[in-house]
Amino acid sequence: MTEYKIPVIAGDGVGPEIVREGKKVIDAVAPLEGFRVDWIPFPHGTEHYLKTGEIISEKSLEELGKSRALYVGAIGDPRVEPGLVDSIIVKIRFAFDEYVNFRIVKLLEGISGPIRNKGPKDIDFVVLRENVEDFYIGVGGRAKKGSSTVQLPLVRKIYRTTFQVGIQTDASEIGFHIGCISREGSRRIIQYGFDLARKMGKTRVTLLDKANVLPQMYNLWREVAQEVAKDYPGIELEFMYADAATMWFVRTPEHFQVVVAPNLFGDIVTDLGAAIAGGLGLAPGANINPDGTSMFEPIHGSAPKYTGKNIVNPIATIWAGALMLDFLGESKAAQRIVRAIENVVKTGRVKTQDLRGSAKTYEMGDAIASEAVKW
Ligand code: IPM
Ligand code: MG
Repeated sequence: MTEYKIPVIAGDGVGPEIVREGKKVIDAVAPLEGFRVDWIPFPHGTEHYLKTGEIISEKSLEELGKSRALYVGAIGDPRVEPGLVDSIIVKIRFAFDEYVNFRIVKLLEGISGPIRNKGPKDIDFVVLRENVEDFYIGVGGRAKKGSSTVQLPLVRKIYRTTFQVGIQTDASEIGFHIGCISREGSRRIIQYGFDLARKMGKTRVTLLDKANVLPQMYNLWREVAQEVAKDYPGIELEFMYADAATMWFVRTPEHFQVVVAPNLFGDIVTDLGAAIAGGLGLAPGANINPDGTSMFEPIHGSAPKYTGKNIVNPIATIWAGALMLDFLGESKAAQRIVRAIENVVKTGRVKTQDLRGSAKTYEMGDAIASEAVKW
């Protein structure tokens, strides 16, 4: 029997509640498909940081890197400043060069999405978000503090002189981050997009950017895409500005097949993607290095206000678990889980509050786990 050692970071907020359900479903299907999972808990997240001062050490990353797949709930907590512990997710992506962030935008049968007249046939595409470049490289700073001088007309008036009197202020202080993309970084994510389109029998790859205001970066991105596209006759390459894409996601979601986006715009449009597909509770994601350690997590965050209530929908996390099994080569087990999610949702038997029901997080997990072992 194959055994997988999978590190789990349940994380903050609702993380532990949803990860519990994801593990439950995988543990249910595993024996039927001839494998088992040895879950290795990792403590990282806000509690761990507050207790020990560790965000995530090189040593922990090294430990995580011994496995092919990591399973993560959610990280982030209002008790600490934004970007501090959430950086764990970004650090893992970078440490293992997980350059593909694969995100599904699919409205399941049985879910009523927020867009009138758009059903499951219309909302069914994937977004591939470049995951290790752009404005996420962590290069930035603060400068020009205390460098500006404000004139004081009143002082001048009192002393009846024209000499310059001023005080130092912080008015011109700046904060900045630098974004960049590389030719190779562009090539590999765009090529991944075209390969996926070919594998899925799709005919269009839509490339997002803001080449109109950041031409130095995104003209390179576009040039690379044009080169890559030459090897894929029959698949159209389409350029679209990211702002326009937010409009088209809502107006004509049926237009999209495979979308490839730079990191930051990809982050933004995939929350929108989740919303048009019925909400963040349903949207899974995968951070993939095809030849290395990959990480599987829901697109949503830690949802602090729901912590401990056991009312959030675990489907996003359970579905991310299916993506993980698929990545590990357990595609039949993955199919069982996806089919179970589809069936439970279609019949509307169990509905959590986001689906206008009152089922608990674990009731959804139980329903999917028992459905997944039915055939
Ligand atoms: C996401 C999240 C992360 C991101 C945060 C938690 C760092 O929003 O995975 O979409 O910005 O990538
Ligand atoms: Mg996000």
